[in-house]
Amino acid sequence: HEIDATQHNADKGEFKHYMLKEIYEQPDAVARTIEMALDNGETTKLRDDFLQRHETLLSGIHHVQVIACGTSYHAGMVAKYWFESLIRIPCSVEVASEFRYRNPVVVDNTLVICISQSGETADTLSALRDIQKQAPAGLVSLALCNVPTSSLVRETDIFLPTLAGPEIGVASTKAFTTQLVALILLILKVGVTQKRMTDEHLNTLLSELHQLPGQLYASLNLDAPIKTMSESFEDKKSCLFLGRGLQFPIALEGALKLKEISYIHAEGYAAGELKHGPLALVDKDMPIVVLAPKDSMFDKLKANMQEVHARHGELFVFASEASQMVAEDRLHLVYVPDVCETLAPIVYSVPVQLLSYHVAVMRGTDVDQPRNLAKSVTVE
Ligand code: AGP
Repeated sequence: HEIDATQHNADKGEFKHYMLKEIYEQPDAVARTIEMALDNGETTKLRDDFLQRHETLLSGIHHVQVIACGTSYHAGMVAKYWFESLIRIPCSVEVASEFRYRNPVVVDNTLVICISQSGETADTLSALRDIQKQAPAGLVSLALCNVPTSSLVRETDIFLPTLAGPEIGVASTKAFTTQLVALILLILKVGVTQKRMTDEHLNTLLSELHQLPGQLYASLNLDAPIKTMSESFEDKKSCLFLGRGLQFPIALEGALKLKEISYIHAEGYAAGELKHGPLALVDKDMPIVVLAPKDSMFDKLKANMQEVHARHGELFVFASEASQMVAEDRLHLVYVPDVCETLAPIVYSVPVQLLSYHVAVMRGTDVDQPRNLAKSVTVE
């Protein structure tokens, strides 16, 4: 199942790597995925045909269990924040390789969401099969997947596609952002079906979704300043990514992306956890990437940044202009386009992808096929 990237050279077009091409495809891939549920310009309702066949199944679920690996797991973490804050349905998220071996309890009326770009990830499939054997009452299984012909899609009740198109680079990019879009669409569908959302809230989110492809497009314009920023990482051994709330999973994703393709050790942290350990690592040689949109957690995050700065850490901050942050000594800043708090994790994914990409290119690693990794992990 390993993909030989060299066979696809013709498809790379003007881009040096598949990963870069796939990063740039995100506005279109996201727009296609949004169109599954939303007619052009429509802000008052979801399309009638979106998951229509499954309305009865979706109306009966009371809990959500997300199972996934790697980047797909990070998409699930964002979904947990959304499911609970937007429509008040409890949601648990776990990596498949742990879930399957701990004899977990799946309560009645659970929607099990398996997220997988490939639909062939061995641990995710096995975890699903184990739950199906347990067969709790009212179980509904859903595959959120980029490959319609995959095993995962065949073995689940509902198939929710990501319309990312083929993803060749081992580092997942457009699959991730389209997973996030499909998840928010699913949450809106469940919210409407179970009457857990006011019309006003739905209208607001739908009009924000319409703006998303444009905001992603604008975030690609940050390529040049991010490339400049990446020069500071070339000879670094280790790096931290910080975020809070919806940006915490993006911090984890940024760290995964950087270690996967540049081979620099990186860790993602919920910024509030800094003083519980990682602050001890901070010195002038440790770059700290911070995802800092002007959201409900911004003031708390700002205090965390000050803690790092006071300990001579070097900050690389992605923030919105509304934050009124300014660059200073040991604080490098790139402004990300304004986006509402709910959808900000999708837009803030782009700068961390670009940062990892440029660091990897500078270090001369094999960006599309990093050592020791395969695109589809079909064995345990
Ligand atoms: C992401 O950049 C990785 N290559 C990896 O973590 C990947 O997301 C994971 O192996 C899960 O794959 P899947 O989505 O195909 O199940």
